[in-house]
Amino acid sequence: MDELRRKYIEFFKQKKHAVVGSASLMPEHDPTVLFTTAGMHPLVPYLLGQPHPQGKRLTSCQKCIRTTDIDSVGDNSHLTFFEMLGNWSLGDYWKKEAITWSYEFLTSKKWLGINPDTLSVTVFVGDSDAPRDEESVSVWMGLGISKERVFYLPKADNWWGPAGTTGPCGPCTEMFIEVSQTPKCGPDCRPGCSCGHYMEIWNDVFMQYNKREDGGYELLKQKNVDTGMGLERTIAILRGVQNFYETEAFTPIIDRIKQLSGKRELTEADQRRIRIIADHVKSAVMIMSDDRRISPSNVEHGYIVRRLLRKSIRCADELGMGKGFLADLADVVVELYKDVYEEVQRNRDFVMQNLVAEEDKFRGTLGKALRKFEQILEENGTITGKDAFVLFTSFGLPLEMTAELAAERSIKIDMEEFRRQFEQHRDISRTATEGKFKGGLADHSEEITKLHTATHLLQAALRKVLGNSVRQNGSNITKERLRFDFTFPRKLTTEELKQVEDLVNEAIKKDLTVTHEFMKLDEAVRQGALAFFRETYGDEVSVYTIDDFSKEVCGGPHVEHTGVLKHFRITKQDSIGAGLMRIRAVVED
Ligand code: ALA
Repeated sequence: MDELRRKYIEFFKQKKHAVVGSASLMPEHDPTVLFTTAGMHPLVPYLLGQPHPQGKRLTSCQKCIRTTDIDSVGDNSHLTFFEMLGNWSLGDYWKKEAITWSYEFLTSKKWLGINPDTLSVTVFVGDSDAPRDEESVSVWMGLGISKERVFYLPKADNWWGPAGTTGPCGPCTEMFIEVSQTPKCGPDCRPGCSCGHYMEIWNDVFMQYNKREDGGYELLKQKNVDTGMGLERTIAILRGVQNFYETEAFTPIIDRIKQLSGKRELTEADQRRIRIIADHVKSAVMIMSDDRRISPSNVEHGYIVRRLLRKSIRCADELGMGKGFLADLADVVVELYKDVYEEVQRNRDFVMQNLVAEEDKFRGTLGKALRKFEQILEENGTITGKDAFVLFTSFGLPLEMTAELAAERSIKIDMEEFRRQFEQHRDISRTATEGKFKGGLADHSEEITKLHTATHLLQAALRKVLGNSVRQNGSNITKERLRFDFTFPRKLTTEELKQVEDLVNEAIKKDLTVTHEFMKLDEAVRQGALAFFRETYGDEVSVYTIDDFSKEVCGGPHVEHTGVLKHFRITKQDSIGAGLMRIRAVVED
């Protein structure tokens, strides 16, 4: 692993690239995604045209997390944490150099020495947004790749990005190595097929476009190259093994899991559990040890950490691993990465303390939760959505875990019922909260509800007028007014305030429909929902959409149509320091 990292960086240094260190796993400037998902992610401002202090040619090994396939982890091809090697041209070289260097690094005996006869490539077939990529094909053919080894694929396969919902993207050419141990699955087998014969090794993206919020594409100021080579996958190819769990990226962790389990006969289900633990503990340690120091919680990054750890604890129990295994395995992870990412060592104590606390906390409730689960099953013969809800609220059992336990007994949890319970519960707790502050006065929930919706309209309007750097930083609602804090470096001009007010009032006049749904956080973010304070619930988040004006992850409550707000007025703005502004506003007849 060390050797591949070193060789890659050395190769691109020789091609005059500056080496940039790995950025944080938590993107600092992009509220549309939770984690850094690719090497290009921290470079977005530079791909959009801002000059990079280290020049126009960069290379890095970036820590990445992808959570979209978290439930598939344990098979041969999914990972949560991985490292991505990459090289970039910021308006400098273009397809010829990028492809030629990729080919040289892969096949030259001095570098990876892969047999060129096992290499196939895919290119973009072209559509109404961008032309067929003949330029890349002619470079590949010039390097000796025959016609039969070039595959034309559509946007779904050969277009990369943006990393969030908007941003730089473009057609790509992907490189695949044929694995001799796994024969082709049939005559139609080709790169991208999931049978395992073709393994993807590298992706060169020609980032020439910017995806706008309206879904359209525009040409970027500069033509960029963005490439990505997954470290774990490449190691597997180089070692000639079927999957990355058999490489040094995982074997030290897996060996330790096996030791701690002491189980002699491992079933297929056990093997899967071992992989899940290895992936999940590694990923949790890498997130927690980032300099943002994330601890397990019920929101955002902390919720992902909690999910990873709780799932690991359950798998570990099934393997008969004793208490304290999390900290034990975390030590192996720290050893594996501390020389590459110094923060892993720097934050080691923080990670250990939090792991021990989380294991204690969950073990304290897990036994009770599982007993309760069995008891319900015995008494009623099934697990209802309401039961799942009770198991979550009273026993801390994540929804996805209850669903999994139920699935093992061929029971499908009624998610709709779970959601109804959630809604009902929220109504009850909301009324209770309001009751607490009501002090015998009339119920003002209608005013409060209107102001919740007004806050969403305000945030959307602020972003339309001032740009997408506006982020909610806090909100407080009483029956008389809303108060909204957001990131912005200066006071708004009278003109800007008026524009914001007008936009909100237009939205009210149009009587837009407010809709509510539950969806996976990733899906919400993909659809462009703002999610600064995420109310996560099990695997799903609650999302409110106001026609095409606003979409936010939020627990509510909200009105059903904006018309009932009648009129919106900003009453005051203040600068509250540290790049934060505060606006107070009212709705009135
Ligand atoms: N950004 C491209 C990828 O992740 C290189 O595949």
